[in-house]
Amino acid sequence: MEAKGMPEGLSISDIHSLGQKEALDILARIARVEKKTFPSNEAFDFSADLWRKKPNTRVLYATGASPSTGAPSPLVAYAVYVRQKGAALLHKVCVAEPFRRRGVGQKLMDHIRQRLQREGCQYIQLWVDKAREPARALYARCGFEEREEIDNYYAPGRTGIRMVLNLE
Ligand SMILES: CC(C)(COP(=O)(O)OP(=O)(O)OC[C@H]1O[C@@H](n2cnc3c(N)ncnc32)[C@H](O)[C@@H]1OP(=O)(O)O)[C@@H](O)C(=O)NCCC(=O)NCCS
Repeated sequence: MEAKGMPEGLSISDIHSLGQKEALDILARIARVEKKTFPSNEAFDFSADLWRKKPNTRVLYATGASPSTGAPSPLVAYAVYVRQKGAALLHKVCVAEPFRRRGVGQKLMDHIRQRLQREGCQYIQLWVDKAREPARALYARCGFEEREEIDNYYAPGRTGIRMVLNLE
């Protein structure tokens, strides 16, 4: 099988750079991918409040080039983090299923790291389910270190791992 490269025309933006209508449209599209990807108890609430009322919560999204049919550009990936003083808590990174293993996750993580570094953030922290091997591999490759393991963190029998990337 031919290896696929980075999706064409990939562009990463922040929903806060959009007007309300566009932001709410992107949030609705993210919510649909989120629902398909995660069990309901782990699904993040991508409701309109996120845009209006949570200035410390950042939602980034990546789209590909617009298809020639005039359809909207595909939603390729998204990420959510919360800024708390010198730290950022990375809640979510997700690449839509058809676009995985093409370097998008890595690119999104690089984007987040560079942006947080520029903003003076000292470290990024996240929790990941021990069973999510692709995500753990991605984070390890980006330099995150495993610091702590908590049994039954997500649900009975599901271990959470705390990972940290130092930016200083
Ligand atoms: C985890 C996830 C974001 C990775 O995104 P991706 O775009 O496929 O990742 P990339 O193509 O950029 O891969 C970068 C590196 O991550 C690791 N990786 C990614 N997918 C992997 C897999 N299925 N198995 C093992 N390692 C994997 C590899 O080290 C890879 O580098 P390589 O391709 O040179 O081996 C994606 O699989 C995903 O969205 N999963 C479902 C949601 C999820 O679990 N999110 C994390 C918890 S919130």
